Amino acid sequence: MTHQGFTLWLTGMSGAGKSTISDRLMERFRAGAAKVELLDGDVVRTNLSQGLGFSREDRDTNVRRIGFVSELLSRNGVIAVVAAISPYRATREEVKARIANFVEVYVECPIEVLAARDVKGLYKRALAGEVGQFTGISDPYEPPENPDVVVRSDRESPAESVEKVWRELQRRGLIETA
Ligand code: ADX
Repeated sequence: MTHQGFTLWLTGMSGAGKSTISDRLMERFRAGAAKVELLDGDVVRTNLSQGLGFSREDRDTNVRRIGFVSELLSRNGVIAVVAAISPYRATREEVKARIANFVEVYVECPIEVLAARDVKGLYKRALAGEVGQFTGISDPYEPPENPDVVVRSDRESPAESVEKVWRELQRRGLIETA
């Protein structure tokens, strides 16, 4: 495959499927020998953003750092895939405004489904009041108003979601496959 540099930004609540979908996308990009890097919130928080918590200020710092790195990558022809809750609309917009090729993907899933799935056990703890400032429970999540792609992880398989994203990238001429 041939491709341009761009940032593919997946936003959505914890457990919505951002990491799952981005992992699948990474496999597909790598299968096409694309130059690609993944910036996953959980991973970024263990190195680049180590020590940051979940206050609005800390989340914004985290998101701005991720945006800074993804801009460096994408302006140099690399695909930067981002998977981070990035709950604040204004901060996402700020990052978006700095990046030439930016594609926003909203990974949507109803909170009831997330709480029932509860892969990491965090929703149960948040509902019991054991985790403060938990996104969607005791902290805000501001959904994108005009996302480029919406995937509904409670109704679509990861493969279907990946396909939707792929088609949008092709439609924009950001990737071309033979
Ligand atoms: S962001 O808000 O700064 O974009 P990020 O995506 O990096 O968040 O990290 C979210 C991950 O941190 C979640 O998937 C979850 O595992 C963990 N986490 C721990 N505490 C919280 C919290 N209070 N709110 C949301 N996620 C939390």
